[in-house]
Amino acid sequence: MAMVWYAAATSAALFCIIYFFHRRLSCRYPLYTDYPILGMLPEVLCNLWHIHDFSAEMLKSHGGTAEFIGPWFTNLNFLVTSDPLNVHHVLSKNFNNYIKGPEFREIFQAFGDGIFTTDAEAWKYNRDLFHSLFKHRSFEVFMEKTIRKTVQNSLLPILDHVQQQGRVVDLQDLFNRFTFDNICSIVLGYDSNCLSLDFPEVEIEKAFSQAEESIFYRHIKPKSLWKLQKWLQIGGERKMTEACKSFDQFIHALIASKLEALSKCNENETGEASADLLTTLMREGKEEHDARFLRDAMFNLFVAGRDAITSVLTWFFWLVATNPLVEAKILEEMKEKFGRNEGKAEVLSVEEVKKLVYLHGAICETLRLFPPVPFERKQALEADMLPSGHGVDPSTVLLISLYAMGRSEEIWGEDCMEFKPERWISEKGELSCPSGGRLRSYAKPFSCSSHEGWFQG
Ligand code: HEM
Repeated sequence: MAMVWYAAATSAALFCIIYFFHRRLSCRYPLYTDYPILGMLPEVLCNLWHIHDFSAEMLKSHGGTAEFIGPWFTNLNFLVTSDPLNVHHVLSKNFNNYIKGPEFREIFQAFGDGIFTTDAEAWKYNRDLFHSLFKHRSFEVFMEKTIRKTVQNSLLPILDHVQQQGRVVDLQDLFNRFTFDNICSIVLGYDSNCLSLDFPEVEIEKAFSQAEESIFYRHIKPKSLWKLQKWLQIGGERKMTEACKSFDQFIHALIASKLEALSKCNENETGEASADLLTTLMREGKEEHDARFLRDAMFNLFVAGRDAITSVLTWFFWLVATNPLVEAKILEEMKEKFGRNEGKAEVLSVEEVKKLVYLHGAICETLRLFPPVPFERKQALEADMLPSGHGVDPSTVLLISLYAMGRSEEIWGEDCMEFKPERWISEKGELSCPSGGRLRSYAKPFSCSSHEGWFQG
């Protein structure tokens, strides 16, 4: 019996050693230190609190592209890149070869078959649909009115109130509520009243945040672990199930009440108040737009709109508050262009805001330094070679670090870590593509293809 144990232990040890060296040999560009059994996961977990900065540093020291390999036998392996030529290749030149893939869909299961999780025809259908919705003049007017109302009736009075009381507020929470109310009205035509003086806890908002948190952890846990948690309905996976249930109940009740309202009123009577995206889609009454389709479309728009705007608003105000010179220039530009009603808070129209070039530059800088989507994930359909010389095959998960790109000295120049709205403004005083580093040669691929032409103006 002892002999059997001895043989088994020796074989297992030998297998581990061979496996370890095989991994070492096959991973030619390691991003972090590769430990036996745990792979590179320990370094990720120790640096989770500043994972984007940490990854950007590591990518820089590896020439912009490197491999992450997870614990043994987990298949948690990625090729991470911030090389603009690779990004151009994947997102533009060889776009048809790169998909989100089935694994992505599994992680983002809560998104259903919406625009973020689908590929090919289903993705194109969603994209064309949203495109046509967003381009409508009536939608643009509705969106401006909704945001203006939230600013005038909720945001400004609350800021006035807390200022008078000398109260400290968490601006991220405030902007989250502000964006949530706007997105609820614009996407669903529903008044969530999240942004009010008593800072209420809104169930549906909590459900969203919970679902997103659980999705984040699915990225760093081995698949077998989160699948087991899901099966046992424990930890973050249980919370995710509950959150999705809450959202589904909420959205299906809303669809039912809208259906009833639509059947009672004709189009003229519903009028402008019902220019929200859900009502517009339902009004079209297309056969393929069943309750499931509507639920998925709304969930995707909701997450897309809410998180990106909350993130950019929060970082924008943090950057402005920590850069008093930039703040002074923003105020100076406003005074110069709209000197009237000095000292009195006034909500500008979209047309007026377009005249604020320096402010626009400051927002572009915020998006560069703190992109709301710091990573994009893609998978190849067929084996391919990236311009950097790294090979990819269908089993490679490719992560594009937009965060590292925004902080690349090679792209933006030596002052890449500085908050400089000026870099977006030409000598003529117009908004222009920055000229630092090697940016001029990259200028074309950098156009915002995700939203290009979606909104007018
Ligand atoms: C500062 C604001 C925003 C930023 C920085 C931003 C950024 C991005 C990025 C990087 C993507 C590509 C994601 C991917 O392919 O994985 C994306 C896609 C998308 N965004 Fe935004 N977004 C913003 C605001 C919004 C808003 C307000 C909406 C609408 C409510 C929206 C709707 C979408 C949709 C539907 C897609 C999917 C497009 C596609 O797959 O073709 N975004 N966004």
